[in-house]
Amino acid sequence: MKWKVTLSDLDFDWKEQEKVLSVIRRKWLTMGDLVLKFEKMFARFLGVRNAIATSSGTTALHLAMRALDIGKGDAVLVPAISFVASANVVLYVGGTPVFVDSTSPSDFNLSIEDLEKKITSKSKAIILVHYGGYLADFDRIKILAKKYNLKIVEDSAHSIGVKLSEGFIEKEVMAGTLGDIGCFSFYSNKNLACGEGGMVVTNDDNLAEKIRLLRSHGMTSSTLQRHKAKKYTYDVVELGYNYKMTEMAGALGIEQLKKLKRNNLRRKTLTKIYIKNLSRIPGFSIPFLNYPRNSSYHIFPVLLDEKVNRENVIKKLKAKKIQTSIHYPPIHRFSYYQKRFGFKSGFLPIAEYIGKHELTLPLHPLLKKKDVEYVCEELKKAII
Ligand SMILES: Cc1ncc(COP(=O)(O)O)c(C=O)c1O
Repeated sequence: MKWKVTLSDLDFDWKEQEKVLSVIRRKWLTMGDLVLKFEKMFARFLGVRNAIATSSGTTALHLAMRALDIGKGDAVLVPAISFVASANVVLYVGGTPVFVDSTSPSDFNLSIEDLEKKITSKSKAIILVHYGGYLADFDRIKILAKKYNLKIVEDSAHSIGVKLSEGFIEKEVMAGTLGDIGCFSFYSNKNLACGEGGMVVTNDDNLAEKIRLLRSHGMTSSTLQRHKAKKYTYDVVELGYNYKMTEMAGALGIEQLKKLKRNNLRRKTLTKIYIKNLSRIPGFSIPFLNYPRNSSYHIFPVLLDEKVNRENVIKKLKAKKIQTSIHYPPIHRFSYYQKRFGFKSGFLPIAEYIGKHELTLPLHPLLKKKDVEYVCEELKKAII
């Protein structure tokens, strides 16, 4: 199937090609100088003390759980409307994900009211997702976290390069650096793409040291250090993992980071074109309209009216070679989670409504205005 308009696309050119070729020519494929350079660039970009590259966003989140000593008997609050990895990582360490409903059909981020209701003496942390890049209400979440002594892990997979506030401020605070630990994904469809890759960021040097150890088997020296004859042996001091980033991914990350600001701006422009073409059309609503906080415009979601058959709309758009997706089926309704925890339909009504009626339209920096207009025209026809 050759799509006319794909859901996402990669802004790669000769710079990415050249950088990856240089890795192959140098014949150092595993985590090396380019990954270290990418980490430094990333930390500087976010204004954070430590950035630790990983093999994916999922492994970044897993390391965050381990670093915070989340384990058996601990509860972690997770928005039900997110990618399944946001909850899986809690299970990896033996904890229990406690699902939080969305705020409303126009704000898919987690509901602060529901969040507070779900906090118990077992609660240890919140995994905070900024859905689609739209920043959650961090000020109120921080107050709750302080009140109940909860750690905040930002799952910033969607929200790379988003400033907390616009305008003249002395220090720009970026998404991912708002909580105790921030995690990023560089999966192929993300605003910064390396294929597979991720990053953990933190201003806490002790957490950073633990995360670095856990990323590489709990070993006290790296292959690169031994190759450069800086160390000749190692000890293993933690039960760690092999969650290292490859040099190819690091090379892509360096080039992609240079394009991020421009590409996020392009996504914003395209979102505005969507909104202009789709407002006041019956059959669906656009969430996050007039949203009070910033966004990376990672995706463009719409919420179809109850009477509109989503499957038909998807099929009609597919016939016009327009690719769409769903973000997200709520995690607690997946068979695995239902079987394990017995969640019933209606447990989180807003998240479940969003899961049934949301439709994600194509959004990526290579889209042209005419592509967006084409999608809008076809959507209007598909909904009638
Ligand atoms: C919100 C969210 N969290 C976590 C992940 C996991 O990242 P990865 O696919 O890099 O493991 C993703 C993306 O895929 C995501 O969208």
